[in-house]
Parts: sequence; structure tokens; C-alpha cells
Amino acid sequence: MRTLLFGMLTALLLSGCVSEKTSENPTLKEVFEDDFYIGAALNPSQYNERDEVGSDLVKKHFNSITPENIMKWENLHPEPGVYNFEEADKFVEFGEANDMYIIGHTLVWHSQTPDWVFEDENGDPLSREELLARMKEHIETVVGRYKGKVDGWDVVNEAINDRDGSMRQSKWHQIIGEDFVAKAFEYAHEVDPEAELYYNDYSLNDSTKREGAYRLMKSVQDQGIYFTGIGMQGHYSLDHPTDKELEDSITRFGELGVVAITELDMDVLPSANNYQGADISAMSDTESDSVLNPYTEGLPDSVVQQQTAQYANFFRIFLNHSDKINRVTFWGVRDSDSWKNNWPIPGRTNYTLIIDREGEPKPAVDAIIELKKEQSSN
Ligand code: GLA
Repeated sequence: MRTLLFGMLTALLLSGCVSEKTSENPTLKEVFEDDFYIGAALNPSQYNERDEVGSDLVKKHFNSITPENIMKWENLHPEPGVYNFEEADKFVEFGEANDMYIIGHTLVWHSQTPDWVFEDENGDPLSREELLARMKEHIETVVGRYKGKVDGWDVVNEAINDRDGSMRQSKWHQIIGEDFVAKAFEYAHEVDPEAELYYNDYSLNDSTKREGAYRLMKSVQDQGIYFTGIGMQGHYSLDHPTDKELEDSITRFGELGVVAITELDMDVLPSANNYQGADISAMSDTESDSVLNPYTEGLPDSVVQQQTAQYANFFRIFLNHSDKINRVTFWGVRDSDSWKNNWPIPGRTNYTLIIDREGEPKPAVDAIIELKKEQSSN
């Protein structure tokens, strides 16, 4: 199927039917409005409208937004008793002013969370009850502040191990135990019963990790604790995941609730370490060189076509499962925004998104719009 799509798209590109650049209507959010929200992760220059090109693109094409970093614990709650809401308030104001479905990211995570969270004033580890109380206070303060404004929360991020689908031995898990996940959902739901609540993780296309996440969230559900669904981050590449892996995961998680594609991007660079996950601590020791960073002067047409075909392929799958999927969010707006320019090797030139560095839609935009038109006419 992928080969077929690739062939069709190549033919379209060669025949000039799919133009290299289309800044014309229709917009992505209009095209997919009956299927799912089209989202983007924003950095401050976009929601503060300092990056005019970026913020105009967000307003034009996207109807859901996620803050890339500013709602993470280390930014929102850097010290005991100190909350910095200024940036998060601006992010939420931008979303409200533009009538967007706003996601809060993320309440409970092992990463980008300061060490003090897990320690008392002497630097000794907190007890289970103390850490639960601290988690509850954070969730009540943050979810409470944006109640009725933030539509959905990534409540717990990345609690499952890559290799065997077991629980990650984070400090949350070590101190509280597995039910830190259930408790986080319970607290969030108590504060804002209307908010959608997600478990969010990467590599959920992997069958072992998928089953680990399924088991965890099924047990939360079996305890009668509310959650809306699973966020599949979607940090993908030109040849990963396979159609089957992706479809199997969407179908499996659909048994539990809604599925959201929360952090979609597509790495086009040579792999630095053969690692397909998205653990932000997994930086490579290798330095960037012309082999690992081959496209500093632009992406060759052959790779553009491969990426176009792969994006179309993913969207074909998303559309086929739009009864389960409520949102497809890209992790960034333009290629220049992507964290993949600096991970797992800093200073590379990657092309992970569907809008280029100048703010022009890439051929993938036309391809996925075409796909939707074809589906509608069948
Ligand atoms: C994970 C997190 C995101 C972000 C990305 C990399 O996927 O959920 O918040 O940090 O890594 O940018």
C-alpha cells in the first residue's frame, strides 16, 4: 500500500498536479473538521505573536494547541510554593481568543520535574503520603486555575518502560508505587470533571509497550477512575512505524476510550543510535557530521517525496480510524521549530513537519488534503 501511495504521489508531483508549495485554501482544520482536531505544539514566540509567520500559520491551519514546554512542572512550579503562571496564562488566552481546543501538557512526568518535588527540606526522600499530597496540591492548583479553559490534560506522561512494557522506575513509581497513575487521574478529575484526561507516551506502536500501557490504563479504568483516552505521541520516521503497528495500537487503545495523536513528527535524518523512542534523556554521544547531518542545504526531492508519501500513509490510517481519533497534533509548527533539530544530536537540520522553515506548506499538506477529498468522493 505504501509503495502504491508513493508511486501515486510521485506521479502527481511529476505531473504538476501537486504543486511544490500551496499557501492557498483550504486550511487543514477545515479539511479535517468532521474527523479530528488538527493541533500544533506552540513555543512562546507563537502564542505571544512575536513570530508573526508562526502565529498566523497556527491561526490559519490549527484548531488545537499544546504548550511545548511552559506547562511542565519545572517551568510552572520551579520551587516549593512558587508558581509561574505568566506564560501559561498567555498561552491559554491565545487559545481562547482563537477558539481552540486547548491541551495542558503535562501534569505528572519523571522528566523536566525538579528534584525537590521528591524530597523534604533536608533532601531526604518524601514518604508515599507526602508525595501524594504534593502531587495533589500541584494538580489542584494547576487544573483549578485553568478549569473551564483548558479542555484536555496530559495527566501522566511516559510511565512505561520501552523494552518490556513494565512500569518505569521513576521517583513517582519508587515512592508512591504503581497507583501514582490512578491517583493523578483521580485528583485531576475531582478538580475539573469536565476536562478530558489523557495518558501520553511514545513508542506505543511497539506491541510490548502498547500492551504495558493498555494493562496500566485498563487497571485504572477497572478501579472506576475516569480517563478519556490514550495519547500516542507519534515521534515517527520515514520507515517507522509499520502500518500494522500503528493500526493495531489505535484499535487496541480504542477499546479503552479515545485515541489522540499528540506529538506527531517525522524524522528524515540518519539514525544516530538505532533508537526509535523519544526519551529526551537519550542524547547521543556522537557529534554531528556530514553523514549524520546531510541536508543542511535543503531536503532532496527524493526524500521530500518519501516524506510526503509517509505522511499521506499515516493520515490514511488516521482517517480510517477517525471514529476513535479525536485529535492529530504536530509537535511544532514549522520545520525550524522541531526539537528533532537538536535531539538526539544537537545542531542538525531536520525536516520533520509539514510546513517548511519559511512557513510554506510542504507537499505533504496537499497530499493529505487530496486524500481527504478522495475519501469524501468515494
Ligand atoms: C516528549 C514530551 C514532550 C517533549 C518531547 C520532546 O515527547 O512529552 O513534552 O519534551 O518529548 O520535545
